[in-house]
Amino acid sequence: MAEKKRFVVAIAGGASRYTPGILKMLVSEKDRFPLSKVVLYDNEDVRQKRMGKYARVLMSEYYPECEVVDTLDPEEAFTGIDFCFMQIRAGRQEMRRSDEHIALKHGCIGQETCGAGGFAYGMRSIPAVVEIIKNVKKYSPDAFVLNYSNPAAIVAEATKRIFPNDKHVINICDMPVGIMNQYADELGVPRNSIEARYFGLNHFGWFTAVLDKETGHDYLPELKKIFSKPLPDDHFTDMDPSWRETFVFMRKMVSECADYLPNTYLQYYLYPKHMLAGEDPEWTRADQVMAGHEKQVYEMVDEVCETGKIMGTKYGFTEEDLKDDDHATYIVDLACALAFNTHERFLMMVPNEGIIPNLTQGMMVEVPCMVGSNGPEPLNVGEIPAFQKGLLENQYAYEKLTVDANLNGSYIDAWHALTLNRLVNDTDTAKALLDDLIEANKEYWPELK
Ligand code: G6P
Ligand code: MN
Repeated sequence: MAEKKRFVVAIAGGASRYTPGILKMLVSEKDRFPLSKVVLYDNEDVRQKRMGKYARVLMSEYYPECEVVDTLDPEEAFTGIDFCFMQIRAGRQEMRRSDEHIALKHGCIGQETCGAGGFAYGMRSIPAVVEIIKNVKKYSPDAFVLNYSNPAAIVAEATKRIFPNDKHVINICDMPVGIMNQYADELGVPRNSIEARYFGLNHFGWFTAVLDKETGHDYLPELKKIFSKPLPDDHFTDMDPSWRETFVFMRKMVSECADYLPNTYLQYYLYPKHMLAGEDPEWTRADQVMAGHEKQVYEMVDEVCETGKIMGTKYGFTEEDLKDDDHATYIVDLACALAFNTHERFLMMVPNEGIIPNLTQGMMVEVPCMVGSNGPEPLNVGEIPAFQKGLLENQYAYEKLTVDANLNGSYIDAWHALTLNRLVNDTDTAKALLDDLIEANKEYWPELK
């Protein structure tokens, strides 16, 4: 039998705090998705070198047949690759913090992907993401870009415009997978035994059914019952406290939001007063991440760089660790669907070309798609109710105008976008916010006229 093809993967945003998790996942998936090389690409020298060294230690111990390269040079990074996994954060956590602070100063939520925070981050992400995709296309025209850079809804709208009908540019998010994992845990069924029916924009959608893959049984009514009771104190105790709070709040949303099961991010849009009241300007999410997960990851990376060892240390993996079905595996599931034409289903962002007839055509909707080597093929959704339609059209108009502002350098489009955003919603506030954000983002945004 011919030897199975071994892939070359580039990770754009290679110095990110998520890279060690992705590498570990690639190690545990080596049978299903064998690699000959992994390339870490970043624009930040110091972190990148350390991450590169960490990756070499890790792979030499657990995956010696996979070469590791780290580079700041796009040509070296993207020549001869099969996949680019893209998870960049333009401006890093420092700018996430700046977004949160500026928004709070104006009495608004500045969350990473929602409200004025999502707007500011979107304006930074678009040029950075587009530049990387252009480089991937230049050096490996047939490579698939699996993009999960945020704010994904805005980034997807921009990539749709710049790379129209391009089956190699794939926009995806892990949140629906994370929520489905919660459903499976609560139902006591295996994580991969259920599949979703869902519609919306990224971080702005609803599950309409949760189906047993084998029998077709819809768990939605059971889930609604489970979620109408508060989360027991002994559930998910090892979760990051802020995420646990989100999942606690999800119970309230589910019990109050009638028909469908909302994505957790709808808490910001449907309960903005409550969410704003819970914000502490001295300790925002960026502060928490910088002092928490990010710090832990870089301390581990530093230690491994110093000792040159992972196996046999407290950072080593057991067989069990490697089998743990970490939710990052959805990236490999998706890569396999594209590479091996499996026609598996994923929730992805694709243009609405009639699958939701009462929503704007071309809207980058997040819906179930069948995925094979020709990319995603969306499943039909049908007409949606007035409540969701109203919310989605408003949010999409905001996202579309954000992209217009960015690509055309238009101040008025940016101002209109922020005014439309449910978490701003006032013309004077939008202008004051925009002017402060322009000042803080000079290095990253195109000039707005
Ligand atoms: C989920 C979302 C991502 C988001 C992340 C934020 O995974 O799907 O889009 O970036 O949460 O997590 P953090 O720990 O940085 O707040
Ligand atoms: Mn996401």
